Amino acid sequence: MKTTRLQLLTLMLFGIGGGGVFAADPAAPVVAGTQSMDGKVIFQTVCAQCHGTAGEGKVELKSPSIAAMPGWYMTTQFANLREGRRGQDAADPQSFMMAAVAKALQPEQIKAVIAHVEKMPMVVPMGKDREVADAKAEEGMRLFQERCMECHRYNGSGEMTFGSPPLIGRQGWYLAEQLRKFKTGKRGAMKNDVNGAKMVQITNFFVEDDQMLRDVVAYIMTLNPDAKASLEEQKRQILEGSPFESAGR
Ligand code: HEC
Ligand code: HEC
Repeated sequence: MKTTRLQLLTLMLFGIGGGGVFAADPAAPVVAGTQSMDGKVIFQTVCAQCHGTAGEGKVELKSPSIAAMPGWYMTTQFANLREGRRGQDAADPQSFMMAAVAKALQPEQIKAVIAHVEKMPMVVPMGKDREVADAKAEEGMRLFQERCMECHRYNGSGEMTFGSPPLIGRQGWYLAEQLRKFKTGKRGAMKNDVNGAKMVQITNFFVEDDQMLRDVVAYIMTLNPDAKASLEEQKRQILEGSPFESAGR
């Protein structure tokens, strides 16, 4: 398939919303393509439709906030999506959809848009994006400290050398959904997905049930800075880590 032309991706094979919440109007987003090589233009024409104009993500589409995501991590995910290590399974409509988008872009466009998204200011989750229903952050703290922070760091800001992305800046429901995907093998279980395999193992060995999963996500949400604080103050809060720990010291 030639992808050098303006493209229309009609993603109508699957309802948006997954998990049974099908929209009354099943017309899935019709994603406009672009020939532009300008990262900002590509973001605005293609990505913003699903990830929002500030890269904040949309709960209706279950799309994550991506603003300020590290370039190295997005590069890996685009490669995974294009090469069939992520988004292979039509039973996982979100990554299936994202894979279609990744495949429709040219490599130079992907490079350009990643460079743009990486520089966008992080969207700190607020309100419903920050809450995790029926969960206790205090309970999740132990699991995080024992099993997660060695790779994602004490403050959830990720570690390139391990390929582990930042967990702050994402919505709580998105993190929970990804953990469920790893645990059921919808993500990370394809051959040659070395980094995904780590999370398949972790979720299968250490995240015993959905309560534990929600608790650990609730704790991760406490690593996010105050959304209303100045950028400088946010940086300080991120470095400090969770308020729970300082309270216990
Ligand atoms: C048709 C809607 C749609 C469009 C257009 C779209 N995305 Fe996505 N994207 C999603 C959804 C939904 C997910 C979540 C996939 C999942 O649950 O595994 C996602 C996931 C991602 C991820 C993985 C994030 C992570 O935490 O692993 C990145 C990176 C990403 N998108 C970047 C982009 C960029 C850059 C563009 C523009 C070139 C774009 N997306 C266009 C819907 C879209
Ligand atoms: C051995 C290192 C390691 C440990 C321990 C680990 N992770 Fe990860 N995690 C990773 C890597 C690597 C990825 C990226 C996977 C990929 O490239 O698809 C990841 C991805 C994730 C994602 C997906 C983020 C996104 O934006 O899509 C979540 C959520 C996550 N980890 C949560 C956790 C939690 C919670 C724990 C503890 C229970 C944990 N991780 C423990 C290495 C680790």
